[in-house]
Amino acid sequence: MKLKPSFFLYLVAFSFLVISCNDFSENGDPSDSSAMKFEDAHSFAKPDQAFAKHLDLDVKVDFENRVITGVASYEIEMREGAEEIIFDTKDLRIEKVTLENGETPATFSLGSEKEFLGQPLSINLKPGTKRVNITFSTSPGAEALQWLTPEQTAGKEQPFLFTQSQAILARTWLPCQDGPGMRFTYNAKVEVPVELMAVMSASNPQAKNNTGIYSFEMKQPIPAYLMAMAVGDIEFKPVGPRTGVYAEPSVVDAAVYEFGEMEDMLKVAENMYGPYRWERYDLIVLPPSFPFGGMENPRLTFATPTVIAGDRSLTALVAHELAHSWSGNLVTNANWNDFWLNEGFTVYFERRIMEELYDRSYTEMLAMLGFQDLEETMKELGPQSRDTHLKLALDGRNPDDGMTDIAYEKGYFFLRLLEETVGRDKFDAFLRNYFEENAFKVMTSEAFVEELKTGLFDGDSTRIAEIGINDWIYGPGLPHNCPVVSSDRFLEVNDQLEAWQNGTKAKDLKTASWTTHEWLHFIRHLPAEMKRKDMKQLDKAFGFAASGNSEIQAAWFIHVIRNEYSKNYGELEDFLMRVGRRKFLKPLYSEMAKSQSGLEMAREIYAQARPNYHSVSTGTIDEILKWDGSDL
Ligand code: BES
Ligand code: ZN
Repeated sequence: MKLKPSFFLYLVAFSFLVISCNDFSENGDPSDSSAMKFEDAHSFAKPDQAFAKHLDLDVKVDFENRVITGVASYEIEMREGAEEIIFDTKDLRIEKVTLENGETPATFSLGSEKEFLGQPLSINLKPGTKRVNITFSTSPGAEALQWLTPEQTAGKEQPFLFTQSQAILARTWLPCQDGPGMRFTYNAKVEVPVELMAVMSASNPQAKNNTGIYSFEMKQPIPAYLMAMAVGDIEFKPVGPRTGVYAEPSVVDAAVYEFGEMEDMLKVAENMYGPYRWERYDLIVLPPSFPFGGMENPRLTFATPTVIAGDRSLTALVAHELAHSWSGNLVTNANWNDFWLNEGFTVYFERRIMEELYDRSYTEMLAMLGFQDLEETMKELGPQSRDTHLKLALDGRNPDDGMTDIAYEKGYFFLRLLEETVGRDKFDAFLRNYFEENAFKVMTSEAFVEELKTGLFDGDSTRIAEIGINDWIYGPGLPHNCPVVSSDRFLEVNDQLEAWQNGTKAKDLKTASWTTHEWLHFIRHLPAEMKRKDMKQLDKAFGFAASGNSEIQAAWFIHVIRNEYSKNYGELEDFLMRVGRRKFLKPLYSEMAKSQSGLEMAREIYAQARPNYHSVSTGTIDEILKWDGSDL
């Protein structure tokens, strides 16, 4: 089959590494077009036939009916002779499809619904078709979208809407080729009620206007999972020349203080791994029901308000989302089986940024807490579980189910091992080159291993064998050569834990210099079973349940549940009613579900709290509580 030259260029741009990693060794020549294949079990799209390279989105956000309606108009590239282009959709209503300038009606069909994946939208093409226009509306239950009532916001007066597209939910709010290996640029026009402002993962307004119509441009090609939008009573304040925060007016000043290091983080990151390719870096603080800590939407990180602790102690999250501007957004996992290439790299990069900003003792605490999370996850999954491989096997599953701490922390420790093996300078030079060479491309584990062999180890196979790269990436559990974290600051915490267990009163412990991280280590290592009087003593001395720090609260509530410390049930319930961040909800509801009385309490709270949670969180908690809606 003959390729049009322009099609070939685009295809090469986005699929070169898919090709090289899967077929390079067998076929030798990556420019051999017969070697091209596209693998993504979570998308119906066939980009090697026809793919969307630019989106013009024109939508209206209707809060009354909780729908987004409008037109997604795509500029496309097709292989000569291709007969259709396929988009991913889920719960979308497709009203009309036209070709070119909108006057040529197109025939299209929606295929049968597949679990998790939704339905393929196949549009018949004419020879040389350049544009397809899809008129669509979302359904009120669209999984990516969370529509909040005014009561669910900080200001309590205006509604709010935000999207969460990763991993495969973009298709629930716009038709798109929804795989991380397919990139497109976009322009958008979004109409919202005049009292509100819209922002996207694109160039953003810095103030409201009186038309309620906002225009956006994203010049760099991005995969669909990075499509994002938020609409609400939002205000902008700058942090530095290239950085700033968006938040509801009552939150924005606290956010400006909390995230005051953004500009420094950006500079530090650029110094390490090369220029920031997205122009501005802003962050929006969402209402507390946002299901994640943060989401790396390009140019505009989405963040939970639960990281606003008042003392900047949880801002590693900003470093993390910023780091994704390189690892993830610039060099992207080719499909979700290689999720660790996004997250493991990002955790490594995040900790390097924090080390630069603070010091090694600070990041060794982060690494130690991460290691504890990893051990916990290994225990939960079982050390032989397939889900403990870095390279995942998510085909046929909801990718969300396999996205655990393994990608983050096992990934981190693998990269740290590489750093410790070759030395930091060499590893940094390698990474800087990696980001530059692979910018706006995809990466797979296999291609990464090739890069390591040639770029880091100069083909020295004995050293490669020593490290056990394959065991790390394609094997279960945690290999024996995992780097060891050493934290003197946590050793001091251990001393205080011991003192307390030997009878020193809680209020007399030496805790004055502790940061959030020492406290977390302390709380996590309290005995699993404690008497009521011990719980009471800790509660009185430290007041964890009413802490302004969500991480500390969540860690403490585990003990509250386990030891049935009913005195703090009020705070626990308030927390669960307000916060929708899955990382907190999952362990708390799981802990409650361990006893009959706990399960009853959990179900009672959940019945009330569930409407405040995003679908990403209810998906997880429904399973833990075996919730089928009949209790509603
Ligand atoms: N990209 C992730 C969030 C995500 C992962 C969404 C998988 C959907 C599927 C984001 O960068 C992230 O990792 N967030 C973490 C915070 C971070 C500091 C570890 C979170 O939300 O807890
Ligand atoms: Zn991340």
